[in-house]
Amino acid sequence: MSKDKNSKKEKFAKLIIDNNSYSFPIYSSTEGESVIDITKLHSKTKFFTYDPGFTSTASCESKITYIDGEKGILRYRGYDIEELADKSDFIEVVNLLIYGDLPNKSQLTKYKNLISRHTLLHEQIINFFQGFRRDAHPMAMMVGVMGALSSFYQDTLDIKDAHQRQEATRRIVAKSSTIGAMAYKYSIGQSFVSPKNNLSFSENFLHMCFSNTAEEYKVSPILAKAMDIIFILHADHEQNASTSTVRLAGSSGANPFACIAAGVSSLWGPAHGGANQAALEMLEEIGSSKNIKKYINKAKNKKDNFKLMGFGHRVYKNYDPRAKILKKICKKVLNHVGINNDPILQLAMDLEAIALKDKYFIEKKLYPNVDFYSGIILKAIGFPPEMFTVIFAIARTAGWTAQWTEMIEDPIQKIGRPRQLYTGNLITKYGKKRSRKNTR
Ligand code: SDX
Repeated sequence: MSKDKNSKKEKFAKLIIDNNSYSFPIYSSTEGESVIDITKLHSKTKFFTYDPGFTSTASCESKITYIDGEKGILRYRGYDIEELADKSDFIEVVNLLIYGDLPNKSQLTKYKNLISRHTLLHEQIINFFQGFRRDAHPMAMMVGVMGALSSFYQDTLDIKDAHQRQEATRRIVAKSSTIGAMAYKYSIGQSFVSPKNNLSFSENFLHMCFSNTAEEYKVSPILAKAMDIIFILHADHEQNASTSTVRLAGSSGANPFACIAAGVSSLWGPAHGGANQAALEMLEEIGSSKNIKKYINKAKNKKDNFKLMGFGHRVYKNYDPRAKILKKICKKVLNHVGINNDPILQLAMDLEAIALKDKYFIEKKLYPNVDFYSGIILKAIGFPPEMFTVIFAIARTAGWTAQWTEMIEDPIQKIGRPRQLYTGNLITKYGKKRSRKNTR
């Protein structure tokens, strides 16, 4: 916890329970919501707070990413996402997220070399892929192989050693792109393509995915730039589900590779990182603008569990700034690959226009999120929908490792262990019938 959290005039929140008054300190943020410290709530009141889904709960203090959901602001270490997408590159952003500020030229060159030299995988890891069915989802391979790295890089498992922690973060970021590319190659039955140290991170990823033994893939600067922006936009996002999973796994002292594998698992869900694949599949199912109304009504129908994938967000109650940037680069990429007037992009824009005028979406403040346009771009670059979440995971290794490092280095961090509201059965003697009152 930052020592200066109480630097501002101390404020307290009062809680009255059965005419007893309890007070809890309020800590001010540098931006956004302040917090009420309830760490002593249970010891003082014998009550727990109740917040399924953590809609009003701050699980930690962090200096990494700031989101203003009402204004649609996203900043990494204070830098606006728009500026970083425009002026930075993914590995510079990785360094920014993990170390706290933009590296100077020589630091960045050194860091890029370190990352490049970690893109190779131990040769035996290839055997892990052989164990998967060819039609396995690439995320299954990401989860499995990422966790398995802990058995190959045993010299970076000691989380108390700062150098080992840093080396582990470099290995995770670097090797995630190689694993992702290998998962893609394996799923299409092509041999693996080794990374090249003379290519940038994003160029290398495209090379490993689209080159093959018969011909070198000529990396287009426009597609490499689009890939890099996609990685930057997906790099971190405060305490989202997968990052919270990484933090919770890390709080037990689990090794970094295992923690990131847990994050990959959580990201896979269609309500989270799996939404980019689901959004494109939804657009393909809608098929044409004349069906939009039918699907919007399905999304509004409480009896129908259909949701507009790529729409809505726990924090953004305004347009996701990342979606704005992706919408802008969509056209550029499509034109570059010779797809003019892509019917799916047109359908996405028509759907957005109609949804944003609909009372239900306006009232619930549902806007396109990062997953709404990303799939259209990735498909145009040449990826199948199953690879979209893999690409999200590769990018998010930056945020996961930065947040994991911050948690491990937080002097007050302890194992995460929430409590519950128990509404189950009262004590029942073995072999005795439960009383009606005691049947849940
Ligand atoms: C990501 O947390 C992060 O930061 C995540 C992420 C990141 O970078 O890490 O930004 C990446 O996961 C983006 C979100 C991708 N998911 C989707 O696009 C899936 C579709 N969206 C929904 O599942 C939903 O909007 C969530 C999961 C994203 C947010 O859900 P919340 O905050 O729990 O909100 P909710 O489900 O309680 O919705 C509030 C209301 C509900 O109606 P009521 O019960 O109040 O009547 O809005 C409705 C929901 O039914 N609603 C939708 C909707 N999203 C919410 N209705 C139709 N279509 C939708 N997409």
